[in-house]
Amino acid sequence: MTDSKKIIIAIDGFSSSGKSTMAKALARRIGYRYVDTGAMYRAVTLFAMREGLISPDGVVDAGELERRLPEIAISFALQPDGTQHTLLNGEDVESEIRGMEVSNRVSPVSAIAAVRRDLVAKQQAFGRERGIVMDGRDIGTTVFPDAELKIFLDAPAECRAERRVKELQAKGQQVSYDEVLANVKSRDHIDQTREESPLRRAEDAIGLDNSSMTIPQQDEWLMARFAEALEKANS
Ligand code: DC
Repeated sequence: MTDSKKIIIAIDGFSSSGKSTMAKALARRIGYRYVDTGAMYRAVTLFAMREGLISPDGVVDAGELERRLPEIAISFALQPDGTQHTLLNGEDVESEIRGMEVSNRVSPVSAIAAVRRDLVAKQQAFGRERGIVMDGRDIGTTVFPDAELKIFLDAPAECRAERRVKELQAKGQQVSYDEVLANVKSRDHIDQTREESPLRRAEDAIGLDNSSMTIPQQDEWLMARFAEALEKANS
């Protein structure tokens, strides 16, 4: 595989559909870089919250946030256990960006055109040399329309909310299923109806409903799609 041309793998789909689990496992296995674009939107949201750019009722000061975008540096730091943490201006904000407070504020921030333009450019820079697995909402449609492999993941909202509750509880966060389900549904709605880069399946994406698959099954499924795409890219 070392001499073969590296490809771009774009994994898009609804909130908590298991994109990052799948993307991370594949990247580790094939030695590609993994970029979690949701974490980037979350980091910008945390910046806006800390700087008082979001009112208590959730209205974002889009003009001021746009003006201050150059102050935001986002990077990823590999941990000794192999996981990746998100850094906002050098500070490890991994746990803060996964909490409900940021989850409840991220959709309006990610609907701002200037924020999307800025983050899409950063994401494209990460993929300049290919050899990358990137997950998000618009990777196959906007960030890398030329990705050699595009996956679109979906599963019913109830199933995704259950997974998210387990994930948050495992991290010690107390959340109710109803609260998480409401958040998942509201993000689905905003993600699909926003004007700028709405969530939609690229025409050439391979769809997968993973609700009745185990993680090893979905990993094997993705590995097989990767092998096919790599062969095609190198033929
Ligand atoms: O994948 P996630 O749940 O961590 O993403 C957080 C939010 O960021 C999600 O509500 C939608 C937004 N997002 C986006 O608009 N475009 C992306 N490429 C990734 C995430």
